[in-house]
Amino acid sequence: MSDATTERTLIIVKPDGVARRLVGETIARFEAAGFSLVALRFATLSEELAREFYAEHEGKEFYEPLIAFMTSGPVALIGLERENAIERARQLCGKTNPLDAAPGTIRADYGLDGRHNTVHASDSPASAERELALVLPGALES
Ligand code: CMP
Repeated sequence: MSDATTERTLIIVKPDGVARRLVGETIARFEAAGFSLVALRFATLSEELAREFYAEHEGKEFYEPLIAFMTSGPVALIGLERENAIERARQLCGKTNPLDAAPGTIRADYGLDGRHNTVHASDSPASAERELALVLPGALES
């Protein structure tokens, strides 16, 4: 069911999370928080796709290592829907650096450092739309 405040967002379980078998735990946390799955894909990102996905960070000192990390192994691409999905998902994930993330958030519980921070969450409605279209084609229509 959809209404005016229903949104879709993208969560990625990053290579460090997949390697530590945290895909199920991540999905379980979102489902328990009232999110519905709308799309799901398991894949290793190509360098081209990773560069496009993170284009806004091109030129920053962490960009090249970020691309290397995000293409280093498989990721789980998860499309989710809920009221205020984007803000709620960011709350569940916690701040980028696990040391700054609030207790009980995914990054506080599982993140290793600022780069290997287990999950990605879209940061705005425009980002969610762009990112879903890039990595889960069809997720915005289904
Ligand atoms: P993500 O939410 O995927 O969006 C951009 C990513 O860049 C971020 O999570 C981190 O993995 C990475 N990142 C952002 N800032 C830093 C930083 N200061 N050092 C290392 N990696 C960073």
